[in-house]
Order: sequence, then C-alpha cells, then structure tokens
Amino acid sequence: MTAMKLTVRVVLMMFVILGVVTLYVSYTAYYSSTLKVKQPVTYRTPFRDIKITAVHPKPPEKACHSVETQLKFDCHPENFPTKEMCEYRGCCWIATPARKKPISSPDPLDSQAPVDVPYCFYPGNYSAYRVINTEKVFTGTEVLLKRDSPSYYPKDIQYLNVNFNYETPTRLRIKIYDSVANRYEVPIVLDPARQPPHDPAYRIHIQNDTFHFKVIRKADGKHNETVLMDTSLGAMIFSDQFLQISSLLPSHNIYGLGQHRSHLNLNTSWSRFTMWNRDHFPIEEDANLYGSHPFYLVMEDSGLSHGVFLLNSNAMDVILQPTPAITWRTIGGVLDFYILLGPTPIEVVQQYTQLVSRSFMPPYWSLGYHQCRWGYNTTSRTLDVVHRLRKAGIPQDVQWNDMDYANNYMDFTYDPEKFGDLPAMVTQLHSEGLHYIMIVDAAISTAHTKGSYPAYDLAIEKDILVKDGFGKQPIKGKVWPNETVWPDWSHPDATDYWTHVVSLFYDKVKFDGMWIDMNEPSNLGNNDSVTLCDFNSTLENPPYLPAVANYTLRFMTLCATAHQSLGRRDKGLDLPGLHYDLHNLYGLMMAQASYKALERSRELRPFVISRSTYAGHGQYGGHWTGDNSATWHDLRMSIPAILNGNMYGISMIGADICGFHSDTTPELCQRWMQLGAFYPFSRNHNEQGTIDQDPASLGPGVAASSRRALLIRYKLLPYLYWLFYRSHVYGDPVVRPLFFKYPQDQITYRIDSQFMWGDALLISPVLTQDTTHVNAYFPRDTWYCLYSGKRRDSLGEYYNLAAPLDIINLHVRAGHVIPQQEPSLTTTESRKNPFKLLVTLDEFSHSSGELYWDDGESLNTHDRKLYTLIRFKTLKNKIYSRVDMLGYKDDLLKLEQMTVFGMAQKPKQVKVKSNLHDDFYYDDSHNVLYVNKMNITLYEAFVVTWTFTEIKDLS
Ligand code: NOJ
Repeated sequence: MTAMKLTVRVVLMMFVILGVVTLYVSYTAYYSSTLKVKQPVTYRTPFRDIKITAVHPKPPEKACHSVETQLKFDCHPENFPTKEMCEYRGCCWIATPARKKPISSPDPLDSQAPVDVPYCFYPGNYSAYRVINTEKVFTGTEVLLKRDSPSYYPKDIQYLNVNFNYETPTRLRIKIYDSVANRYEVPIVLDPARQPPHDPAYRIHIQNDTFHFKVIRKADGKHNETVLMDTSLGAMIFSDQFLQISSLLPSHNIYGLGQHRSHLNLNTSWSRFTMWNRDHFPIEEDANLYGSHPFYLVMEDSGLSHGVFLLNSNAMDVILQPTPAITWRTIGGVLDFYILLGPTPIEVVQQYTQLVSRSFMPPYWSLGYHQCRWGYNTTSRTLDVVHRLRKAGIPQDVQWNDMDYANNYMDFTYDPEKFGDLPAMVTQLHSEGLHYIMIVDAAISTAHTKGSYPAYDLAIEKDILVKDGFGKQPIKGKVWPNETVWPDWSHPDATDYWTHVVSLFYDKVKFDGMWIDMNEPSNLGNNDSVTLCDFNSTLENPPYLPAVANYTLRFMTLCATAHQSLGRRDKGLDLPGLHYDLHNLYGLMMAQASYKALERSRELRPFVISRSTYAGHGQYGGHWTGDNSATWHDLRMSIPAILNGNMYGISMIGADICGFHSDTTPELCQRWMQLGAFYPFSRNHNEQGTIDQDPASLGPGVAASSRRALLIRYKLLPYLYWLFYRSHVYGDPVVRPLFFKYPQDQITYRIDSQFMWGDALLISPVLTQDTTHVNAYFPRDTWYCLYSGKRRDSLGEYYNLAAPLDIINLHVRAGHVIPQQEPSLTTTESRKNPFKLLVTLDEFSHSSGELYWDDGESLNTHDRKLYTLIRFKTLKNKIYSRVDMLGYKDDLLKLEQMTVFGMAQKPKQVKVKSNLHDDFYYDDSHNVLYVNKMNITLYEAFVVTWTFTEIKDLS
C-alpha cells in the first residue's frame, strides 16, 4: 500500500468517525432536549395511577393571572387535579370561584369531574409543536412539525405531518399524523378528493413557532371573512394515547357531536360529550349513548354555516366552553378533520353525506306504521294486535317481534311452542299486505349441541369471532342467551358468514327486514369476567380515560384488548386489529353485513334498523333512539334526537312511540302517536312487563287520534318517499329543524320543539301534559293550516294555536306542490289508490314540487333508472307537469284530485288538459279550490288552468 493510499484511507476513516460522533452527539442532544426532563412521577387517583414522564417549567404567576376565565383551557382534564400536578405540567393553577360545579364529587358512573372553568389551565403560548418545513403541493400545503419539549403524557409523537388538502371548493381536509410510524386510521371509505379547486371558499393561515392554524371562510360580496377554526389556544398534544386539539368557534350556535340526549342547540357553557358506544338508556342529558358521530355544524353570526367532521373512532371527549371553543381529546388514531363550508345548513349536510355516504333508499312499505313490543310471547297474540289495529281502522304496514320469538333468545331460531307457526304467521301477514321484522342480537349463543346451530358452528369454522386479549380464543361474555361470543364484522369473511346464516333463516321465515340490537356491542356480564383480556395493557388503562361509565372502557362491552381482524396499522405492519380502536364501528359494520346479507338473500331493497351507529351508518340502515321511557320529557327530547340523526345522514330514524320503559298513559300515548306519525321511522315499542300500548289498546280516544294522525301520514307518503329519494341521491335531510330553512332567522336557532318535513310541512306537536294549546313559531312566510287551508302570513312570530287532544298542528308553507295518495290501511293498498296534489300558492301564485315513483322495493331503482320523476309547477293560473324521467310506468299512476290553498277568489272556469271541467268546488271561507275527478294519467304531461273570467276559447 502506498503512503498516498494510506493517507487517503486514514482521512476517510476520520471522516467516518467524525460523522458517527456528530450523529451520536446530535441524537443524544435531541433526546435529552425532548425526553429527559425530570424523573417520571406517579400520580395516584382513587381509581388508577397516572405516570407522568416530563414537565414544562412552572409558568410565571403574572402570565397565569392574565388569562381570562373564558380563555382557560383545561390542562388537567383527569379527575382530582392538584396544584402540584398542575404545576408539574407547566400549567397555571388558580382555584377560581367562577367554578360552579364541584371538582371532587364526580358522578359515580363518570370517570371525570363535571367540566367547568378549569383550576389548572394552559398559560398562553404553551409549548407544543414547531413547524420545521412547509411545502406547497398540488393538493394544498404540507407541513412538518417537531415537538420541542415533551407533553405530560407518555409516548409523545416527535414528528408530525399536517396535510392541508383542498379537496373541493367547499371541503378542506386537515390530517395530522405521525411522520414516521403508521397508526390506526378509521377503515371506512370516504368520498375521494376532487381536482384541487382554483378558488376555494376557504383559505388557511399557518403559524410557525408554536404551531397553530386558522381556517378562514373568504369574504364574498355580502359577508366578511369568518374564522371557522383557530387552534391558537389550548395545547396541541399528540402522544400515542392522548391526542388533543382546541379550536375557537365563530359562534355559540353549535349542533351535533352525537349521540347523546340534549337539546339541538348545544350548551357551550362547559359541556362534555363522550363518544364511546354504550348500551345505556337515555336518561341523563349529554351522556354517551349507542352511537358516535364526531361531527358538528355551526351557524355563524352571518347566518352562513359550516360543518366539521373528525374522522377518528377511538374513545374521545369533546368539550365545549363559553369562549366559545371546542376541545377534542381522543385516545388513539390520528386527527383527521374535514371542514365543510356549506354555506347553508342543508348544503353542509349534503357535503357531509357526500363525504360519509348518503342514506339508503328505503322500501316504500317501511314508510308505513310499525308495531312492536317485547313480550307478545306467542304468534297468536302478535296477530291479535295486528287485527285489533285493523279493526280500529288504524293503518299498519309492519309487525315486529322482539327476543321472545326466539328459542332461548338465540338468533335465527324460533320458539317451537309459542312461535312454532312463525313461518305461517309471516305468510299470513304478507297475504294481508303487511310486512314482518324480527330482532337479531349481535351476540351469538354458545349453548347448543355441536352441529345443531349454524350461527355458532359456522362462526367457529370460518374463524370470524372476536378473540380474547391475546388473540387465542373467541372472547366470551353474557347476553340474553347466557354465554355468548361476538362476530368480528371487520373479518373479511364475516359478511359471507352472516349472509349464510341470514339466508338459512330466510329459507324458513320470509322476514322483510332486520332489527339489529345490542351491537355497541353490549355485554351484560360483568366485564371483568370476560375471558382473557390483557388487563395490564395500557389499552385497558389508558393514561387519559374519557368520561366513560364505571371508569373503564370495557364496562358492559368487550375489553379494549380484544383482538379483531382489521389490522391496527394498515400499511405494511401486520398487527391485529384491536377493539380499542374498532369498538365504535361495531354497529356500523354489523349494519353493513346485515344490509348485504339481506340484499343477497332477498334480492329486494334491504331494511335494517340498528341501535348502534357511527358516521356513514345511514347508507346501510336506520336507527331507533333506544330505550327511552314513557315520560313527557322523553317525548319532548325525541325531536332533537331525530333531527340530529338526519343531520348525520341517518334519515330513517324514530323513537319508541309511547315510551319503552314503564307504563305509558293514554294521554301521553295519544300525544306521542300524533308526534310519532311524523317521525321518519314510525314505530311503537315497549318493554316486557309493561302494559299494552298499541294505539288500539288504550281506549277510543287514543285509537281515534292515532288513526287520524296516521291517515294523514299515509296520505302524505308520496311526499315522504320523495324526501327519502332526495336524501338518498342529494343528501337532503328528510326532517329538519326550522333553521335549516330559515338560516337568517336567529329565533329558529334554538327551536327543537317543532320541526319540518322537507321545506314544506311544519309540525308543531303538544309535548306537555294537560295542554291543549301550542305556542308555535312561524318564521316569516305564508303558511296554510293543513286541515283547513286557512292562511297565516307570519312576520316571524309565535302563535298560540289550539291543540285539542285529538289534533296535532300541521302547517304547509306556501309555494309547494305536494303529491299525496288516498290512504288505505297498508301501503300495499294505498299504492293502488289515485294520486292527489296539494298546491299551496305563494304571493305570486307560484309553487313547485315533484313526484318520485318506482315499484317501491326493487334494488337500486335510481341507479338503474327504473323510476319516474314528474315535476309540477304553477305559474299564474296554470299548473303544469313535466315528466323528467319515465322509468317506471303502471296504470295506477292516475291523478284524481287537486286542492289549491291560497286561491284568492272563486274561479269561473277550470280546464283539465284541453277540456272544461265542471267538477270543482271553492271554499270561500279559506280560499281553497278543490278540483275532483280529474282522471289524468300522470306519466303524460298535463296542464290544468283556472280563470276568473269566463273565456270562450281557453286554448
Ligand atoms: C334492548 C333494545 O334496546 C330493546 O328495544 C329491546 O326490546 C330489548 N333489547 C330486548 O330485545
């Protein structure tokens, strides 16, 4: 080796050594700057220990005192904060008298204290992440963040990517995720991004030092800029099991964050909404219930609105505070926000349902009235109820059975003695024009002789059950049939399994839909007895526990460490899925499997009603609001519940009419039947052991007014069907709060005791006992009483309306053409009746409307163009029709009668098509024109003309 070569080698070696040393020094410097701050301390609460690994310096007193009460964001959301722990977190501690709720006496079922002004809060500019790179890309802007100092939760994620994706002109996605490792992401398919828009309705502002961002609605000709999200307060934390971000809200008028029982307009004066699907009857306001919908809609002060969806399925708390501001705290996944710019509330819902999916198209019969109860106990009692409804002249389309039909509560079986003739009963119902639905629970019984119960045997054979915390055995628990196991809907073979067992049962019993229950999933056994959970895992004991019941995620459900199939890290790493991440999706995935199983086995439009839901559920099924009680308060709170469901894209929704728990009373049930006749999903249901409450069982008063209200529903079903079509295709909600139609009228923002069907029908029910008047709000518009046609021109006023016991107040907005059909006692019959039109003229004598019609039960009629769409329009003294689509034709599509509200004077002549028509009548007390016996074939265009002077030649 020459001296020259040797020198080169030595120099190279020196470079390599220098490089390694530099790398080592920077690596250790980096870690000591980020991780080694102090020794971890263990913080003991009466329920669990919290280990804190690092701190920020104590903030100066002055900085703490300068934070206004409104701007305090909780730095110690766990229960029992102390000054010492707070300061250890580098936060301010001021035991403020402003706090009204006691800090140390939590609800016994609540793992956290009630939220209120925090004693422990972040000082301004609390250090979190710093921007180290920003790049403009084709889809928007991508930012790389680095954490400068550790948070006080274990396993901080050091580097984060924040992608601002400009998905559509009104949709911005902000995804914050670990730059290095893959994490769990919600495995549902959302609407993909479009070509990046040239001039979106929004712009973003990114702050570099302590990273935060703003989402700004750009000014338009009429409105100034509005900041929709501003994350400059609070602290952004992204550790493995604690992800937090706060944002200022542009107004106090915020809606959503379901599922919980509360008024529609949420309370921003310190409230917490926990999302962790739970089998719990809606009793306390704001508590977490059966479904999770991390979505809110805000009415901005200008009357414009926007929505925000956080695509995250982990257990979370969402806090609203009077700033007004929102804080999201979730214990897994990533922070993946979609901001929808509306600007009308209906457009926000359209954009949201475009993202998470539109509502399924229900079979026509499912719009009829449904009767159910737990405890008919025999087929003959079930049929008795059907027949007594019929005898009382009360319309009914669907009869249901609860668990009592099943043999030992086992899915897909029927009790051989009491329900031995179930197949024959269903055949009989069908022959009488009715349909049949039975309950199917999520949990599958293990108690049977091998080879005799396919629902279990096949699940074992296909290995599709949720496994224990070590992935070994199917996890076991307890539901009605005693020991049970649970299908893992995230398993690729689960839908085939379900289709198989659903079809086997369908071969015996020709049911028409499925009622899927206990799918949070609910486990009635003591959760600690669940076999083999990994109780020591941090998944079972997360460093931050949202306010779930009984201080544990596994309360009345499966344990967090239970293994599911869908991989936790979907990109590359083959780790098992965890119930910790997938829990909130259990009901959604069961609904999806049930929808597909029904589609395949019946080859007709599926109908699934599920108790548990998650974002996007509406595409597979509807929902009933769970185990309410027979109280006036429950009647009252059912309205915000159905309106919320529609906002989440679950159009087919209703509450148990007359109440599930406890005995109803005739008066309550009478009022509830009147209101329930206007739920999108109209079903009366109650618990075993309570009195009968079908509307024919509580005396003639209840029967008569139920009959009356349901006949109105049946008459309006063509309009309701059109609303469902709009919801399915365009994402319009079927039922709506008043502010959806009148976003400029701030009085409507808090109204949830009245609601609307589409834009046309205003429903103002009685919601309190011994009451025969309703104080109803009429936004500025022209309204007609549905019963009489009496006109009311409101300037935006409350009216005290008479509401005798047998009446529900119904008003129609001017400007609509509402298709109707003569009602019968089933839709099978009413679909054969001729159509009617209700025309409500506005001040210019204008109105418009549509009829959507198909066979009511075939699959995908819209996509396959097997439907007929007819548009109606009035202009001055004529009503025209135009057939926009003629994909379904039957001889029954006849228009027989037309009622015109707001006809200023009696017409001299009426002409149908080109013929003078004598059969009309004018009610001059309310200015209503009735044209009878028109005999028009609807699928051909027509015109009806009226004139106030006699004209010889009307052509
Ligand atoms: C719970 C459901 O919420 C309720 O509606 C049903 O009656 C019972 N399970 C019994 O199946």
